[in-house]
Amino acid sequence: MEGIRLSLPSPLVELHDERISSHGIRLFLKRDDLISPEIPGNKWRKLKYNISAARDEGASTLLTFGGAYSNHIRATAAAGHFFGFKTVGVIRGEEHLPLNESLSYAADHGMSLTYMNRTTYRSKTSPHVLEALKQRFGEFYLIPEGGSNSTALRGCAELPEEIGVDFSVICCACGTGGTLAGIAAGLRPDQHALGFAALKGDFLAKDIAQLQRTAIGRVLDNWSVDTEFHFGGFARRKPELDDFIFSFERLHGLTLDWVYVAKMMYGIYTLADRGHFASGSTVIAIITG
Ligand SMILES: Cc1ncc(COP(=O)(O)O)c(C=O)c1O
Repeated sequence: MEGIRLSLPSPLVELHDERISSHGIRLFLKRDDLISPEIPGNKWRKLKYNISAARDEGASTLLTFGGAYSNHIRATAAAGHFFGFKTVGVIRGEEHLPLNESLSYAADHGMSLTYMNRTTYRSKTSPHVLEALKQRFGEFYLIPEGGSNSTALRGCAELPEEIGVDFSVICCACGTGGTLAGIAAGLRPDQHALGFAALKGDFLAKDIAQLQRTAIGRVLDNWSVDTEFHFGGFARRKPELDDFIFSFERLHGLTLDWVYVAKMMYGIYTLADRGHFASGSTVIAIITG
């Protein structure tokens, strides 16, 4: 696709760390964060086929939803900018000026921002709310909050085939669960996808099952979600997590995104210490952003 440079397949690099190798495990990082600075990681994988579907439908506008700090809003604005769509971002809550970094990036890339109070936002996909948005912005191609729909799963399902080493477990951080749902759909039957919830709550497994039912007609049994490592909930952090990020950066020169990726990586290290991964196994950790 034109106008943007995408590094695909994203690099796969082995992580050399005594805390992992002492358990007889090999750990590789799938550096999806390096796909593109504009549409990194799972954002690209989820948007790829949505962009082509919007084109096929003849849509000229992409509309999506998100919080004020949403990476997905920012990535959708970039997708519109580079692939020739108008974009509308429906933001939860009040407008706060000056715009934060994510929203000013979105606005600078041509996105029209509109704000929805939290009560209406809860029913954002109901027919009357969507109709009101159509009255205001014209016809649009709708991308759900977080970008997770059946079309997004198709893009995520392509990730495993890029991996040139034999592995038994592939890990990713979960928000809506779309990335995990799609990756699981791209695995061999003897491989397992392990998600780490970045939010509190036990809705994820149900949501992932529903995404797979809609996208592929059945729920696969080759995935699971660990809900232990949310560190207090979405966008919450604790000193243990900060210490982990700091030491990981010192050892490996990579600053982990603390909202999602660091929680997954902390989970992987903890599970490795507990003997969760069989000795001799190869584990892949997806750096989703
Ligand atoms: C960096 C990063 N990793 C993981 C996720 C979770 O992805 P998903 O919503 O598909 O579970 C997100 C959310 O968008 C993200 O920004």
